[in-house]
Amino acid sequence: MADGFASPAERAAFIAALPKAELHLHIEGSLEPELMFALARRNGVAIPFASVEEVRAAYAFSNLQDFLDIYYQGMGVLQTEQDFHDLTAAYLDRARADNVRHAEIFFDPQGHTARGVAFGTVIAGITRALDDARERHGITSKLILCFLRHLSEEEAEATLDEALPWLDRIAGVGLDSSEVGHPPSKFARVFARARSLGLKLVAHAGEEGPPEYVREALDVLKVDRIDHGNRSLEDPALVARLASEGVCLTVCPLSNVRLCVVGAIADHPLRAMLDAGLHATVNSDDPSYFGGYVNANYQAVADALDLSRAELVELACNGFTGSFLDAEEQAPHLAAIDALA
Ligand code: ADE
Ligand code: ZN
Repeated sequence: MADGFASPAERAAFIAALPKAELHLHIEGSLEPELMFALARRNGVAIPFASVEEVRAAYAFSNLQDFLDIYYQGMGVLQTEQDFHDLTAAYLDRARADNVRHAEIFFDPQGHTARGVAFGTVIAGITRALDDARERHGITSKLILCFLRHLSEEEAEATLDEALPWLDRIAGVGLDSSEVGHPPSKFARVFARARSLGLKLVAHAGEEGPPEYVREALDVLKVDRIDHGNRSLEDPALVARLASEGVCLTVCPLSNVRLCVVGAIADHPLRAMLDAGLHATVNSDDPSYFGGYVNANYQAVADALDLSRAELVELACNGFTGSFLDAEEQAPHLAAIDALA
């Protein structure tokens, strides 16, 4: 065992006890099959599965697009404000069980407005659950509106227009969906407008796309964080830049295995990222589809890479320092991690 742990059970207990921030979580990707069936029944929506087991069996993906096809189909059961509330409340209950103290949550409004569900319905349901969780569990949160990059920049602009009445509830914008063929530069103008509105900026880059997309996200979109970023490691000059600028990477180990971004968890580059001085964090991405919430992601890499106590502490601290909490808000969480270390 790596330093300081007498047994795998002791390391698991340490992971469970660490206060964590989750910075890369698509709320629609937390839709568990059981809730999918319940909402399908409640809303009279047909789904092409006979049982929860059949749904889980369909979650075998060879790449990002395989997953996205099923992910967009799954979110079709989400229709009412109450549905978005229940989805978000279920995630926050799971997050609390994993000792997540702060969550920065993505949502994909275009996946809903395209089906005739109003933007206001989506965000009213999500924010009601976020407010409840703060009251009930003390979990703080921020919301990040993602543009779907397989759609046009004009459609992203129209989505940002719809968000304007809700800007007090939206911390930032992001970019997700099919990466290859849809470089960050496609969204230069809408990201510039979001920046001028005072929003934080993030983008998925270097998940399947080349290191050049990570550079574009930094140079053209001027993002504050990179989501995934794995393929940055192919470009030593980019790695040096990410390290020297302290850019946070929101890494998702189980997602990377399930979407074949890495061959196996034992090949995951997380330790290489830390060794290169990158500010990596551990996140669950779409936990219902990829086999685990945040603690399962920590556990999988800790076991496969024999992560030490110091490395786990660094990852947990990076979650808070890479968050959009201000330094005063981060401080008690960092102190709580320090007290465990
Ligand atoms: N949408 C939901 N999960 C995603 C991922 N891992 N990559 C790109 N788009 C996504
Ligand atoms: Zn993602």
